[in-house]
Amino acid sequence: MHIVIPLSNLPRHCSHSPQQDAALVEALLQEGQAHLFEGWPPAGERDQAKRRLLAQLRHLDKSYAGGLRKYIQNARQLLHDSKEGVNPFEGCVPSVPEGERLDFGSQRFRELERAGVAAAANAAFVLVAGGLGERLGYSGIKVALPVESASGQCFLELYVKHILALGAKGGRALPLAIMTSDDTHTRTLALLEKHAYWGAAPGQVTLIKQEKVACLADNDAHLALLEKDGGFEVQTKPHGHGDVHMLLHSTGLADKWLAEGFKWVCFFQDTNGLVFRALPAAIGVSEAHDFDVNSLAVPRKAKEAIGAITKLTYPDGRHITINVEYNQLDPLLRATINPQGDVNDSTNFSPFPGNINQLVLKLSTYCAELHRHGGVIAEFVNPKYADASKTAFKSSTRLECMMQDFPKSLPEGSRVGFTVVNQVWAAYSPVKNSPADAASKAASGNPSHSATSGELDWYQTSCKMLQALGARVDGPLPAQFNGLTELELWPRVTWSPLFACCWDDLEEKVAAASVHVGSDTALVIEAPQARIRSLDLRRGVLVIRGSGGAAAAAAAGGEAAAEAAGGAAAGEREVVVEDVTVDNEGWEWRALSPDEGAAEEEYIRGFRVVRKGQMELP
Ligand code: UTP
Repeated sequence: MHIVIPLSNLPRHCSHSPQQDAALVEALLQEGQAHLFEGWPPAGERDQAKRRLLAQLRHLDKSYAGGLRKYIQNARQLLHDSKEGVNPFEGCVPSVPEGERLDFGSQRFRELERAGVAAAANAAFVLVAGGLGERLGYSGIKVALPVESASGQCFLELYVKHILALGAKGGRALPLAIMTSDDTHTRTLALLEKHAYWGAAPGQVTLIKQEKVACLADNDAHLALLEKDGGFEVQTKPHGHGDVHMLLHSTGLADKWLAEGFKWVCFFQDTNGLVFRALPAAIGVSEAHDFDVNSLAVPRKAKEAIGAITKLTYPDGRHITINVEYNQLDPLLRATINPQGDVNDSTNFSPFPGNINQLVLKLSTYCAELHRHGGVIAEFVNPKYADASKTAFKSSTRLECMMQDFPKSLPEGSRVGFTVVNQVWAAYSPVKNSPADAASKAASGNPSHSATSGELDWYQTSCKMLQALGARVDGPLPAQFNGLTELELWPRVTWSPLFACCWDDLEEKVAAASVHVGSDTALVIEAPQARIRSLDLRRGVLVIRGSGGAAAAAAAGGEAAAEAAGGAAAGEREVVVEDVTVDNEGWEWRALSPDEGAAEEEYIRGFRVVRKGQMELP
């Protein structure tokens, strides 16, 4: 191959500083990246393509803390460790860390939730929403998907409204940062703008965009070039949700929140609608235990494919509490404390809590750490080797990082724990898998984590909350959607977080002992100022909108006695539901037949909601 001296072949008339380009090229040459410029024709030829590559290299350099050089050095080390099979947990003894295991809605849960709601007056929120969602296969962004079909509220709306509701209690606008990526940024912004940020104050929601990182072609960390167009572009891939820490540091957001007096920062994912059913209680746990890091978790079955929150003690007595991936946990346990490996204990669950990647971090500790390491947290590499010699890859790889690995570098003495919500259906039901994958996961005894299960768990949780408060809620109907069998279709009860964002709200606004909800019904409460004093929802649907006046309530047919009064804010009406009996045709959750045309949102759930009749209160 014709090898040229790259510096002499830099394009003429760079719009960017030629000295800086030369310095970057020089640095890359020192890191063994000469192949990037091999075959460059003399100056004056293909200058545009050269400029494009240089611009991309500058961009990659700028968007990684420490620059491209550091990235290549980190990659070389991690690729070496991977090839040599270095065990990151060598010599560590695992044990179960400190934490709380709570029954959803129990007295302890509610005490902690109350404390957490109060503490949330000083909480900032971070949604990681840069993922492609390849497994789900939805063509839109995941946060635009409806959480459930009864109200149609999308994930982003639900999250924003929860944060508004918590903020209203504390009399403070709580910040929300959303991490996007090139795959999701424009559409996330458009969704927010279309809905005027659902009423969030200007500046309350900030978008931070993660960048991709360079792919690596081999164990020497040579950057991988795309073959098209003569190799003038580096191949890139996502770096993972761990980027969020670097971005919160580099944008100054975390420091700003700390300076504004915020104490907690809560991280959550794009499609777990139930997160705010558990998050306030987790904030309460963080307050009660003075945790620096608190992972919201669920009970984990031995060998279940979710990470385990584990305390690791090193031979010198130091310890850390981190997420250990399920495939690492079993060999670690076998080699140390249990020759049987990853097995259930007498509770029929693994003693190690299952990580669901929702975190409450103490902001002062967080910011101190960010200043120490710039937010670059434990990276890893996962090359798919061509054969056992581990000398070549099947396809290029890249460094990745995960949000939950943040505690790995915390100093000794940090307080890291967990909050388990024992009822998984009340805390974690993410929408991750396509219908086909969901069905095969369910068939092998695993959670399907589909749009279907996400919606059905939402109704189940709402119904069980009402039941626990004393309402008569009739049991679920059996259902089958998208090949998922033995499903439970509870009455389709849903309410806006602005109506109730915690147990105490619900108890205050619903006289549950005077409420009956029949099996094949739906109850949708959108009105922030609704109050239910007595209701017999026998059959059909009741929607409480709260946007109209008393006249419309009367027009509901004389069955409804509703009074309208001034709400807390403009446009909010108090709607009091008293002595209301509902009996109408209602809405049918009808399974789609195999070849039936359907909207994507319906197709991934496996049903269509056929609306035949309802009572609407204004
Ligand atoms: P998931 O595990 O659901 O991954 O991410 P994903 O990339 O969205 O989906 P698949 O694997 O392609 O099917 C967990 C959370 O992390 C975010 C996702 O948006 C989701 O909220 N995420 C993931 C990022 O923000 N950035 C990433 O690079 C990856």
